[in-house]
Parts: sequence; structure tokens; C-alpha cells
Amino acid sequence: MAIKDRVALITGAGSGLGEVMAKTLAQHGASVVVNDVSSEQANRVVEEIKNNGNRAIAICSDISKKPQVTEMFKTVKDTFGRIDILVNNAGIDKAKGILGIAEEDWDRIINVNLKGTFLCCQAAAGFMKEQNYGRIINISSRAWLGGVGQTCYSASKGGVVSLTRTLALELAKNQITVNCIAPGIIDTPLFRGLPEAAIENLMKVQPTGTVGKPEDIAVGVEFFADDDSSYITGQVIYICGGKSILSSLSV
Ligand SMILES: NC(=O)c1ccc[n+]([C@@H]2O[C@H](COP(=O)([O-])OP(=O)(O)OC[C@H]3O[C@@H](n4cnc5c(N)ncnc54)[C@H](O)[C@@H]3O)[C@@H](O)[C@H]2O)c1
Repeated sequence: MAIKDRVALITGAGSGLGEVMAKTLAQHGASVVVNDVSSEQANRVVEEIKNNGNRAIAICSDISKKPQVTEMFKTVKDTFGRIDILVNNAGIDKAKGILGIAEEDWDRIINVNLKGTFLCCQAAAGFMKEQNYGRIINISSRAWLGGVGQTCYSASKGGVVSLTRTLALELAKNQITVNCIAPGIIDTPLFRGLPEAAIENLMKVQPTGTVGKPEDIAVGVEFFADDDSSYITGQVIYICGGKSILSSLSV
């Protein structure tokens, strides 16, 4: 893996998928920036990475707020001098039917999942264009294809796919790739926090009959982050145990 000595920022890396992505990239020799809204969680992950002899710093900021995002990227640039890999992983969900979605739920989910991804892409693009190098990896969800009770989440994650494809075209001449991972159901606090009925519905139509591990998603991050993936851009990889093959009407 040609990830050694790269500088990687992973949003929402204080838990779940982001935590494992940060630890995996650090194990491959990257200097890792662990972002999260929870400073306690981010600091814990950084301590664990450092205890394994690898490099990491924590930055506590809310990716849905532009001034905080600007400050975060400035800190990364001041600390490491560059930013090579951005993983837009932070995301939230609130599984509800259309009539149960409050306006503030819609705003919060779109603000974190879509606007936050946009703000970080925008901030990173400036630095990456100067470097003429970059790897942006956006975490969407298999649910962007559709899922009962996931109207808002699905819309936000569909936006992430569109953002990825368009930005890939815009940045292609600058040696910056922009790709997307669409996970299926993976065992994290976010998944465990879904209502029991929603988990039951999801499991009924899971081809493998199993829940994935955060490490399954880290495999995709390593792949897109690699120097050798330079001719792959604007793509979506589904890591979902075959779920994306099913008709969206069956979920
Ligand atoms: N777990 C799954 O089954 C699954 C499936 C498909 C997609 N995803 C996506 O994967 C990503 C990670 O999910 P997870 O399951 O690890 O969730 P998680 O809840 O375990 O972790 C998400 C982290 O993001 C942080 N966060 C939330 N809002 C933030 C903000 N505004 N700014 C910075 N950090 C913030 C949280 O504090 C948390 O540590 C999300 O984008 C999610 O939508 C997860």
C-alpha cells in the first residue's frame, strides 16, 4: 500500500467506521487527523493510535459549521504542511417514516451528511489543487438506493453520490480522485441505535444474513487511498454483502 507518509483526515473518527479507518491508515504509516464532535472520543482514538507507535492528532469540530471546518483544515496545514487523503465519514441517521420526520431532523441530517461533506471537500480541494495530488473518499450508504423509513437519510446519501461524481470531474485534471463507498449494515453504534423494527426489517433482506464489520469498510478506504488507484475516480463501491443487488422495493 502506498499510503505511508501520507496525511489523512477522517471525519467522525471517534467511533464506529471512522475509528477503524483512522487506525488502519495509521497502521499503514499515514499521519492521521482524527476529527469528531466529541473531543473525548477523538482523544481516545488518538491515544490508542499513538500507543501503537503511529502518528495522530485529534481535532474536535462540527463538520456542518463552515468556520469550524476552515479552522480544522488550517490546523492540519499548519501541523503537517499538506493533506493527501480526506475521508468524509461523519454521518447521522434517524430512521422515521415520512410523516414522523420533523423539520429539524431533516435540517440536521442534511447539514451533517451532505453539507458537512461538501464543506470538507471544498476546504480540501483548495489544498489538494495546490499540491496537485489528493484522494477524497466520501462515505455514502447503500440506503441511497432507497429504503423504507429512510427518506431523509437516503436523500442525504444520494446527494453524497452526486457530489462525488461531479467533483471527480471537476478535480480530475489536478490528480485528485473523488470516490464513494456505500456501506450496507455494519456493526457500529449508529447501526445499534436504530429502532429494533428497523434492524429487523434490514436483516430480513440481507443476502448474507450477517452484519458487516467496520474492517470491511476500511478495505475500501485503503483501496481508494492508495497512490496506485490514480485512474479510478467518480466511482461508488458497495460494501454491503450483496444488498445493493436487491430491488429497493424489497427493503
Ligand atoms: N453503520 C452502518 O451500518 C452504516 C451503513 C451505511 C453507511 N454508514 C455511514 O458510515 C458513516 C459512519 O457511521 P458509523 O456507523 O460509524 O456511525 P457512528 O455513529 O458510530 O460514528 C459516527 C461519528 O461521527 C461523529 N459525528 C456526528 N456528527 C458529526 C459532526 N457534525 N461533525 C463531526 N463528527 C460528527 C459522531 O460523534 C461519531 O463519533 C456515516 O456517514 C454513516 O451514515 C454507516
